[in-house]
Amino acid sequence: MPARKPIVIDLKFERSQVDAALANAFSGWPVLRASDPDVDLSEARYAVIWKPDQNLFRRAPNLEVLFSGGAGVDHILTLPDLPDIPIVRFVDDSLTTRMSEWVVLQALSHLRQVPAYLKQQRERQWRELSQPEAKDLTVGVMGLGVLGQDSARKLKIMGFNVIGWSRSRKAIDGIETFDGAELDAFLSRTDMLVGLLPLTPDTRGIFDAALFSRLRQGGALARPVFINAGRGGSQVEADVVAALESGVLGGASLDVFEKEPLPTDSPLWRMENVIVTPHAASASDVRALFRNAQAQIERHEKGEPLQNVVDRRAGY
Ligand SMILES: NC(=O)c1ccc[n+]([C@@H]2O[C@H](COP(=O)([O-])OP(=O)(O)OC[C@H]3O[C@@H](n4cnc5c(N)ncnc54)[C@H](OP(=O)(O)O)[C@@H]3O)[C@@H](O)[C@H]2O)c1
Repeated sequence: MPARKPIVIDLKFERSQVDAALANAFSGWPVLRASDPDVDLSEARYAVIWKPDQNLFRRAPNLEVLFSGGAGVDHILTLPDLPDIPIVRFVDDSLTTRMSEWVVLQALSHLRQVPAYLKQQRERQWRELSQPEAKDLTVGVMGLGVLGQDSARKLKIMGFNVIGWSRSRKAIDGIETFDGAELDAFLSRTDMLVGLLPLTPDTRGIFDAALFSRLRQGGALARPVFINAGRGGSQVEADVVAALESGVLGGASLDVFEKEPLPTDSPLWRMENVIVTPHAASASDVRALFRNAQAQIERHEKGEPLQNVVDRRAGY
């Protein structure tokens, strides 16, 4: 068997998690830690990265493939000195499943008025609120990739009408889909908007006042709800706040923000019908990330094509 090529790890995740996962990963492969400033990375051929050090690509000039520590690659595509080599996104059932759990949880929370009931609970108020059914609402999912498609299917199982929008039209059983040019038609049918888009030059700031004003008003919840777990750079937060204040939006669930951590003075923290989670909808499982990278490296070494390679021109 030819000598196994070194893999460099540069993940700004919690160190104990990375250490624990590395203890049982890449068996038989030499693993180098970029966090050790004295280690020679010149022989490294593969890199598993998330927010790597500025000088990683200078220290490791012979890389063949980069593995993203997450499903999104916007952080990677904007790195200085990024080499022109394939970038593999992290795609894994654990990530997909947990994202769908978060999306379904948020959709049901707004459907069943959880923020209003929690407020009543704190005020010791016993008052039943009017209750539409999931089938009375249309959830529109923006971004029908790995995560968007799974979320759409699971929302459908819960009984929602589900429609979806993506750059190229998708065929998904039981779900009406729209392509990039049909945004207006899609929005005018949407009572609950779910954002699962990557951050690219085309999607930056896409969730703005103009978009919110095109969502359907007068649906079963009276006003539309905005749910975003894609990337914060896709939402104009001042417009989200203004739309919530003026009633263009009736509620929101946000996992991602223009600036993270969300600044303590953001009005979003205190708004009654807003659910905030700290970019935690679906964190990468480091063990699964390493298993995935190893499987892809083995494919590459056998001359098989890599999977889930980023299209640099499209930006995702
Ligand atoms: N909050 C969290 O914890 C968390 C965790 C993981 C991922 N994420 C975010 O979720 C994003 C989506 O992940 P994924 O694995 O589903 O990505 P993916 O498989 O690459 O899917 C991206 C989807 O967005 C669509 N899209 C991209 N640009 C578009 C545009 N300009 N107009 C219309 N549609 C566009 C794509 O359309 P086509 O199908 O036509 O290509 C595709 O359907 C990631 O990029 C990441 O930012 C967040």
